[in-house]
Amino acid sequence: MTLDLTPLHPRFGVEVKDFDLRGMTPERFAPVRAAFEEHSVLLFRNQSFEAEDHLTLARLFGPIEDRNADERPKGEAFKIPEVSNVREDGTVTQEMDLHTLNLKANMLWHCDSTFLPVPALTNILVARVVTAAGGATELASTRAGWADMPEELKAQIRGRGVTHRYSHSRAKISPELAQLPMFHKWPDQLWRAVWTNPVNGREALYLASHACAVTGLDDEAAEKLIESLLDYVTQPRYVLSHTWNVGDVLVWDQRAVLHRATPWNYDEPRKLTSICTSVTDADGLPEMKVSA
Ligand code: OGA
Ligand code: MN
Repeated sequence: MTLDLTPLHPRFGVEVKDFDLRGMTPERFAPVRAAFEEHSVLLFRNQSFEAEDHLTLARLFGPIEDRNADERPKGEAFKIPEVSNVREDGTVTQEMDLHTLNLKANMLWHCDSTFLPVPALTNILVARVVTAAGGATELASTRAGWADMPEELKAQIRGRGVTHRYSHSRAKISPELAQLPMFHKWPDQLWRAVWTNPVNGREALYLASHACAVTGLDDEAAEKLIESLLDYVTQPRYVLSHTWNVGDVLVWDQRAVLHRATPWNYDEPRKLTSICTSVTDADGLPEMKVSA
């Protein structure tokens, strides 16, 4: 089966046209996975996509990430996470609520779950309620950016480990937000700074807003280097912006892409459902561990 692919950007990202994601099977998934490895971002439009379809697709990518397993009463099932400012009663959260501030932390360039003992391979976002204006999601190819990066800058990070801490990104938005227990559940994680895709050998810079230290550098030097690297790979020529329509399904490779939300009028509801899947050894996880 061949997919009908239309580029979203000259360097990465494709729209998969005329593809129904309902009831995915391993056979129909194989070319989708191949396109994911090659293009890093996949967009499917006009999907009528139920929770069960979302879960079925996610399981084909890998184990479903469940950050709140420890907080749920025994026997209560996993609920698909929402990226949303809509409360259960339908009202929206206020701009300076901690909940909204946490959504604002998504506006820092990041990669999901680099602070977990097993980080995410992908996030599968489904647009449920979209805003009239604003609220696009931007994606930056750390594969393209790394390929073009001057050797002098690459040499500064090559071979080093980077520490990732959830509360670090939240502290950039609000010290109060950063203190919430949900941002302190996991110890710091140390990952290599370059992820080599085991399928095609392509390298990509692996950084995030959660990155707070670099092996062998003092805090100031680390912060400066992280900023220079992020600035390089998030230049407009490596970025694609996705404006949401209801029914869009966006999937990206966290090993090769950074992403961020963009602002909207916070009086307007915006709701995406989101399933992250975890990387497995076959995705290159063992090689990302920094040996002591
Ligand atoms: C996420 C995320 C961006 C957005 O779900 O991990 O960063 O635009 N979302 O909501
Ligand atoms: Mn995210």
